[in-house]
Amino acid sequence: MSANARITALTPPDILARKGGDPLVCLTAYTTPLARLVDRHCDIVLVGDSVGMVLHGLPSTLGVSLDMMIMHGQAVRRGVERALLVVDMPFGSYEETPEQAFRNAARIMAETGCAAVKLEGGETMEKTIRFLTRHGIPVMAHIGLTPQAVNSFGGYKVQGRGDEAFHILRDAEAVADAGAFSVVLEKVPATLADRITETVAIPTIGIGASRACDGQILVVDDMLGMFDAFRPKFVKRFAELGEAADAAIAAYAQEVRSRKFPSDAHVFTDGRKGKTE
Ligand code: KIV
Repeated sequence: MSANARITALTPPDILARKGGDPLVCLTAYTTPLARLVDRHCDIVLVGDSVGMVLHGLPSTLGVSLDMMIMHGQAVRRGVERALLVVDMPFGSYEETPEQAFRNAARIMAETGCAAVKLEGGETMEKTIRFLTRHGIPVMAHIGLTPQAVNSFGGYKVQGRGDEAFHILRDAEAVADAGAFSVVLEKVPATLADRITETVAIPTIGIGASRACDGQILVVDDMLGMFDAFRPKFVKRFAELGEAADAAIAAYAQEVRSRKFPSDAHVFTDGRKGKTE
C-alpha cells in the first residue's frame, strides 16, 4: 500500500459480512488519544454511554445526555480512521417513537460523523430499529443486561437464566429481523449466547456472554485497569494503568515537596550562552 493510499473505515455491511468469521474486536473509547490507540487494533470503536460512569463519575448511564454523546463522539471521530465508529443513543433519546429515535440518531450521525448508532432493547425496539434502518441509519442492537434498564432489573444482574432465556432469544431474533447489523449480548449465560449466535444471521458481540460470539467488546477503561468503582466478573484486566498512574502521581508529589522537580533538565536558561530551548 502506498504511503498516500486513503485508509477506508469499516462499514456496517463489512461487519455484517464477518458473521461466523474471524472474531470482531471491539472496545469503547471516549477521547481522541485513546481512540487513536484503539483504532489501531479494533474493528469497532464504540462511544458507549458508559462514558457517564467512567469519565463523568455518574452513578449509572441514566444521566447521560445527547449533547454528552455528541461531544465524545466528535472527540473519538478525530482519532478513528480504520474501525467502524458507533455512538450510543442515551436513555430517553429513542424510546418514545421511531420518529424521536430517527431525529436524535440523525443528529448524532450528522454532528459526529459516526456510521452507526447503538440502542438498547429487543422486541420492544423492533419497530424503531426497522424504521431507522429503512431510513439510512445502521443500528447495532444491545440485549440481555441493558444498563439503561438497571432500575427495572433491580441491579446489574445476569439476564436470561432458566425460562427467561426464551425472551432473550426472541429479542435477538426480533432485532435481527428488524435490520440491525449486529447485536451486543451483555451478561447472559454462555449457553444462551451460543444458541443466539447459532440462530441469528447477524454478528453477536459478547460482553460477559461467550467466547463463541462473533466478537467481543469491553469498556476500555475496565480492561486497562483505570476504572475502579466496580468490577464485573466479565472484565479481564489486560493492564493496571490505574496503579501505574497512582505511583506516578505519588512520585511527582514527592519530588515537588522535596524540590527535586523541576531539575535543571526541565527549566530554561536565559539564552545568553546561545541556547534556544
Ligand atoms: O456503554 C457501553 O460502553 C456499552 C458497552 C459496554 C457494550 O454499551
